Amino acid sequence: MTKIAPSILSADFSKLGDEIKDVEPDVDYIHVDVMDGHFVPNITIGPLIVEAIRPKTSLPLDVHLMIENPENYVKAFVEAGADIISVHQEACPHLHRVIQQIKNEGAKAGVVINPATPVSHIEPILGDVDLVLVMTVNPGFGGQSFIESTVPKIKALDELRKQHNYKYEIEIDGGVKKGTAKTCVDAGADVLVAGSAIFNQDNRQKAIKSIKSSLK
Ligand code: DX5
Ligand code: ZN
Repeated sequence: MTKIAPSILSADFSKLGDEIKDVEPDVDYIHVDVMDGHFVPNITIGPLIVEAIRPKTSLPLDVHLMIENPENYVKAFVEAGADIISVHQEACPHLHRVIQQIKNEGAKAGVVINPATPVSHIEPILGDVDLVLVMTVNPGFGGQSFIESTVPKIKALDELRKQHNYKYEIEIDGGVKKGTAKTCVDAGADVLVAGSAIFNQDNRQKAIKSIKSSLK
């Protein structure tokens, strides 16, 4: 069963608790986009918001760190209630160390690659991660268009997983809607992050249902 992870980036930040409650019954993770204005051109939220939303849901908080030096903030995000923490390969010259740090803190560890980063750059870490997040847009903003050339990377990750019996989930993030969602799931994606396709819609239940039914 494909998992859905709504990105709160497109939610109404003045009532995040209600926004999460609105989608909670129909989804699997809550995706939290953390941006620092350095690794990506936008600034969003930090551990304080994760701590504030933690009591509002029992779903896993899937925290996507689009920040430089993520090792400095792993502990704070785990203490705030993050269940999964993903770091960008492009931001981590010492990737094994950060992945190990996330696990030692007690969270699940994910690695993320930008659209222009090849799978080969993360091959050495694939046996150590719980999740691989393939960016299907350049990170920084919601509502961007899906980049088709990322699809073969999803396939390659699925093949590597079968070949080596790796256990990671494959998550994709950016430009998910009807059509692109199915393309990714057919290629091997297990978890679909969707921001604008869910939170920019008046009826979120209907929006989620329509993504799910597009996968058949
Ligand atoms: C982009 C973020 C995404 C974003 C996706 O930098 O990582 O999670 O919220 O937004 P949509 O689904 O609107 O492309
Ligand atoms: Zn994200």
